[in-house]
Amino acid sequence: MPAYVIGGWVRDLILGRPSDDIDIVVAGSGVEVARHVAAKLNKSDKLKVYKNFGTAMLRYGNWQIEFVGARKESYRSSSRKPVVEDGSLDDDMRRRDFTINAMAISLNRKDFGSVSDPFGGIQDIRDRRIRTPLDPDVTYSDDPLRMMRAIRFAAQLDFLVDPASFESIQRQAGRISIVSVERVMDEFNKIMLSPSPGKGIKKLRSSGLLKHFFPELDALYGVEEVDGKAHKDNFFHTLQVLDNVAAKSEDLWLRWAALLHDIAKPATKRFDPQVGWTFYGHEFAGHKMVKGIFRRLKLPMNEKLRYVQKLVLLHLRPIALTENIVTDSAVRRLLFEAGDDIDDLMTLCEADITSGNPEKVKKYLKNFEIVRLKLKEIEEKDRLRNWQPPVTGEDIMEAFGLSPCREVGQIKTAIREAILEGEIANDRLEALRRMEEEGQKLGLTLKKTLN
Ligand code: CTP
Repeated sequence: MPAYVIGGWVRDLILGRPSDDIDIVVAGSGVEVARHVAAKLNKSDKLKVYKNFGTAMLRYGNWQIEFVGARKESYRSSSRKPVVEDGSLDDDMRRRDFTINAMAISLNRKDFGSVSDPFGGIQDIRDRRIRTPLDPDVTYSDDPLRMMRAIRFAAQLDFLVDPASFESIQRQAGRISIVSVERVMDEFNKIMLSPSPGKGIKKLRSSGLLKHFFPELDALYGVEEVDGKAHKDNFFHTLQVLDNVAAKSEDLWLRWAALLHDIAKPATKRFDPQVGWTFYGHEFAGHKMVKGIFRRLKLPMNEKLRYVQKLVLLHLRPIALTENIVTDSAVRRLLFEAGDDIDDLMTLCEADITSGNPEKVKKYLKNFEIVRLKLKEIEEKDRLRNWQPPVTGEDIMEAFGLSPCREVGQIKTAIREAILEGEIANDRLEALRRMEEEGQKLGLTLKKTLN
């Protein structure tokens, strides 16, 4: 039975990108060939057969080799039907997403290693172009997720989406809503992780896809003008901040924080004839929006969510610290609230400078350098990062012979505030003394002296 390596692995080989996922298509039964290969390699125990789909997966070292029979119908269509009609290699390639993914290398004795490239995938790699093998209307309606994939590959590889393809996406964009959120977000996050995600997200908007799954982001687009005063376009500003962050960090969630830092600007936008456009409280409103967005987009509802919420909420705080006279307590508070994420917060703030005026950019960056110094100084002095106050709730209960109650919380807060305000040092003995005073104020009697 003739067999070929096909799809992503061939594309990546030509692009010089290493890949461990190998797809083998067989003109016949993929499962049968897989069994044969596994037996020859003495790896039958590493073979998994998916009978319903007519596929088999073999693990061999780092490689994952998938075997499948050539198909006449579309790959990965959203209604992934278990039974598919057998086809030839040609049929199989026609139903794939892009020309660059529709190339095959023969594994057969008579022409081992020869490349079959019926739709000009190699030329499209040279021309840096994403193009469908068939009429794009057909290819995209076979599986609407491919509209996202087109933009994702363009972003990852820095290719252009062929104009005919792009127009077809614009016509069919609404069909993305029949694809599951998980699959859409898989592609979206690959765009987020690409070298300049902003480029990809601009294409998502101009293709009309974005508004169907991420209306909050789409709503940042556009400029309003009143009395000759216009605000900046928050969509393009956001994407520039995202690209600035991407140049500094590969972390997906820091990139998400950049993407969402101004997400509440449309909701908080006001025009004031005196001061012009304002977005008061957008950091607070924005941090409130993050959870709903994460939930709907099926993003993790764990510490990643909390991290993004925190950075959105705090993203204006370092700016306040650029004032000439900044109290130590303001710096301490930020260190306390940001904890280990303080460096990421600073990265985000620096990325948020998108002024076109190089003099201004220089000045702002210099200011942030000073903030970083202040942070370092206070941090070294007070060690407040991920700080736990030196007196715990248990200490307070023990000292005054209390069970858990409101007073314990009050005393704890008072001690924390005193340290953050710099009234007492971050030191156990001073904190215990303050605890006793606070207890007295509340009419409590000391049962035990701690040290
Ligand atoms: N494919 C397709 N339509 C899809 C998904 C996949 O035609 N919606 C085909 C393409 O030929 C693709 C192959 O199936 O090359 C394997 O798909 P997949 O493993 O999802 O992606 P890769 O192309 O390998 O790329 P990556 O690993 O970057 O996701």
